[in-house]
Amino acid sequence: MIDRTNDVQALDAAHVLQTYRRAPVTFERGDGVWLFDTAGRGYLDLLSGIGVASLGHAHPRLARAIADQASTLLHTSNLYHHPLQAPLAARLAALSGLERVFFCNSGTEANEACLKFARRYWHARGEPRPGLVALEHAFHGRTFGALSATWDEHYRAPFAPLVPGVTWVSPDRPADLDAAVTSATAAIVLEPIQGEGGVRPIPSAFAAAVREACARTGALLVADEVQCGLGRTGAVLHSDTLGLKPDLVALGKALGGGVPVGAALVSHDVAAAVAPGDHGTTYGGNLLACRAALVFLEELVDRGLLEHVREAGAHLKRGLRRLAAAHPEVVEVRGAGLMRGVVLDRDAGPVVETALARGVLVNRTAGSVVRLLPPLTITEAEIDQGLERLDAALTDVLARSAS
Ligand SMILES: Cc1ncc(COP(=O)(O)O)c(C=O)c1O
Repeated sequence: MIDRTNDVQALDAAHVLQTYRRAPVTFERGDGVWLFDTAGRGYLDLLSGIGVASLGHAHPRLARAIADQASTLLHTSNLYHHPLQAPLAARLAALSGLERVFFCNSGTEANEACLKFARRYWHARGEPRPGLVALEHAFHGRTFGALSATWDEHYRAPFAPLVPGVTWVSPDRPADLDAAVTSATAAIVLEPIQGEGGVRPIPSAFAAAVREACARTGALLVADEVQCGLGRTGAVLHSDTLGLKPDLVALGKALGGGVPVGAALVSHDVAAAVAPGDHGTTYGGNLLACRAALVFLEELVDRGLLEHVREAGAHLKRGLRRLAAAHPEVVEVRGAGLMRGVVLDRDAGPVVETALARGVLVNRTAGSVVRLLPPLTITEAEIDQGLERLDAALTDVLARSAS
């Protein structure tokens, strides 16, 4: 029997391009909110693969559907019809109020598609608009278009020159939209809750100013709901909660429950500007991806998961408030539903590492924020158990820094 932990980690160090800083743990099995490493140790997963394992791990209905699809038909390309893509598009359209769907494979591709379709819209009207307005602290992905609208200079600088025409605004200064959004602006692109930027909800005053700027200039609104959408906060789209009516929405992560699938949802008017050949991708919306996404949406909408998230999210919020009250190094708890950030007065790295050692998975974002994105299926008892472990990790780190 090989020592899977050491072999895998050594092989990774030797042969995988080192674009990730991985924690020294190898997971080989999951069950609900639990992950198990190669030594059989269980960890409570409060991160769900960064918001992807929305139904938890090894979800029985999803697993059965995937296995059934694998033994029926996986992929035919977009040269032909298959029975699952159009019903999934119809379902997403009905849920979002946006008429048409382009399928892709990831969040960054969904944003890439939205940005291209926004420019396509203005091109079709005979008044090309190159400009994009993006937000400070935004994260939209790593491909060139999405990266160009991503705030962190550290992600962008090594790959310059990027797509030109991006103007940055701070979500804390809504009045700046007056000058930033003009008749040359194709679209404003925003995450209703900024995830990688530190779980920062868009302030309602900024959302109101976005509505006003779009109405004033005709600029389209792209909502990147890759992380905060699809039930994460208890709503199908978090834009709705902010009173925003986007023309385009980017989806990813939770949609396939672990099977890679992304989607760009577009309004009737934007769809009218897009012609065959304008955009495409080989894998987009194949049978496996669509089957998984249909199961996820059934769970979310028809089988009560949305209501569950609202209750579980409120429970998590109460628990995190207690945690904050007990630890002076917690300066704020932000977010909504099952998307929460615990803002520390220091680097969150040691807390995340200590939490892993105590058997709970969270991650660090924006330096000082401990991020929680548990499976949407997490129970209140599991939340309590996770928070107990996080509480112990915070106590450990505080004790170490005091000594
Ligand atoms: C809001 C948001 N948009 C886009 C992306 C990129 O998604 P992907 O990593 O699937 O390309 C992410 C990933 O974290 C995200 O959080």
